[in-house]
Amino acid sequence: MTTPDRPLRGAGEMPVAVLGIGSMGHALAERLLAHDHPVDVWNRSPGRTAALRDASAVAIDTPDDLAGACAAVFLCLADDASTLAVAAPDGRPRQGWDGIVVVNTGTVSPAAQDQLAAIYGSRFVAAPILGAPQAVRSGAATFVVAGPPDAVAALAPVWARFSGTVEAGDDHSRAAALKLLENQMLLSGLSVVAETIRLGRGIGLGDDFLIQMLAASPSVAPSLGNRLPALFDPDHPGWSSAPAAAKDLGLALGMDPTGDFPVTRAARDAYERIVDEGWGELDITAIVELDSGRRPPGTATPVRELLKPTKGS
Ligand SMILES: NC(=O)c1ccc[n+]([C@@H]2O[C@H](COP(=O)([O-])OP(=O)(O)OC[C@H]3O[C@@H](n4cnc5c(N)ncnc54)[C@H](OP(=O)(O)O)[C@@H]3O)[C@@H](O)[C@H]2O)c1
Repeated sequence: MTTPDRPLRGAGEMPVAVLGIGSMGHALAERLLAHDHPVDVWNRSPGRTAALRDASAVAIDTPDDLAGACAAVFLCLADDASTLAVAAPDGRPRQGWDGIVVVNTGTVSPAAQDQLAAIYGSRFVAAPILGAPQAVRSGAATFVVAGPPDAVAALAPVWARFSGTVEAGDDHSRAAALKLLENQMLLSGLSVVAETIRLGRGIGLGDDFLIQMLAASPSVAPSLGNRLPALFDPDHPGWSSAPAAAKDLGLALGMDPTGDFPVTRAARDAYERIVDEGWGELDITAIVELDSGRRPPGTATPVRELLKPTKGS
């Protein structure tokens, strides 16, 4: 284990660690650093921690290297598998995390939250995030919080940096379910708006007309209205991806595997198709490109065409 050189820091704020410095983990670490929390950061690919190091975060070499004073570790990982691999390799608690509150902010299945709760007991808090990375950075995001009251209360200095918490009691899986139901509405809704645009274009309506129509429509929820500029921008700039959308809808469907949810299933399939068509690196608003025949920026040939079997193969 290496001991990173630790810069001198002001006392008083709760020292924390953020593991998984993707879009969300980066935003979370930035917000806490901006409010004088000492923050350790770790990412599987080390390059992503550079800007945070410049902002006085300490980059650690492995998840076991947390500073002795660290009070809570926040997990911001892609999915169930990566969250469990980082937090509990071989299904066991990390020894270096003794006495530290473990907080999972990622969007994972209820079963994964329950597994972490079984491993970390009274030190585990599920806290999936409602809001985009920019909302986390600005403090406008909300956490759906579930866990033992003492552990949740101990994290008050962190919750105070955000717009609030939605309390889900001590049932960790309920927090996961609430987040997945939110995303099921958002992502299915976005796929419908994208299809409205494709349908409008198909009958010859221009984009200017469609933008005005959708911006004025009471049927477009605010969370979808926010995404209209990115839906019409051919580069689809944004903060979440079609693979993540397909993952979340798959997890939502997995909560009731015997139920029939054709609309959610169709939306999940549409996000999977847009990934197959090569748009997986862009924002979820690339769903509007479904079957467009356009190439994602920087790609010469649609991935689907590259995967087509050639004659004789
Ligand atoms: N973006 C949003 O709008 C949003 C909103 C709410 C909730 N969330 C949730 O927040 C979580 C993080 O999302 P994000 O947007 O930050 O995703 P992201 O930018 O794709 O980052 C994913 C993170 O997971 C890490 N990771 C992936 N597989 C790993 C593995 N096997 N072992 C170790 N680390 C691994 C990545 O490390 P590398 O850099 O090494 O690949 C990266 O740090 C997800 O659960 C997502 O659903 C996202």
